[in-house]
Amino acid sequence: MSDHRIERRNLLKVFCGGAAAVCGGVVGCGAAGDMVTEEELVQLPAVVDGRIRLELAEFPMLQAVGGGLVGEAPGMAEPLAIARDGESTFFVTRAVCTHMTCTLRFNQLTASLMCPCHGSSFEFDGKVISGPATKDLSRMNVDFDGQTLRILL
Ligand code: FES
Repeated sequence: MSDHRIERRNLLKVFCGGAAAVCGGVVGCGAAGDMVTEEELVQLPAVVDGRIRLELAEFPMLQAVGGGLVGEAPGMAEPLAIARDGESTFFVTRAVCTHMTCTLRFNQLTASLMCPCHGSSFEFDGKVISGPATKDLSRMNVDFDGQTLRILL
């Protein structure tokens, strides 16, 4: 391992391990400091009547603008990415890469969803930033009343 790589890993540990405000609890920064890990998906509430209801108080990673997660909900075949883009603005997309279906990771440092398989990246609203993926992620409608985020499937 080169000195450069060690420095990079240590820097990431500072961001991911020491500064909860930067990266705490967010999928994409693992306990070992890697940007892309096989970390478990966040467990989301089950789908009821075609909706997922999230009480924001139960998801600290969504309480600050710029935060987000990748999670799975009972009743959903695919994981979802949820990102907070403003005080009352959230983006929810399918967290499945449109290239070859790998599960995406939320990356707060680059404000993007990243694919660990071949490097595609997406804006939080699902638009492709870089390939090989060429197709945007599908986006869900959401409703937020200041405490509860409802995802309409
Ligand atoms: S599966 Fe995501 S870039 Fe290939």
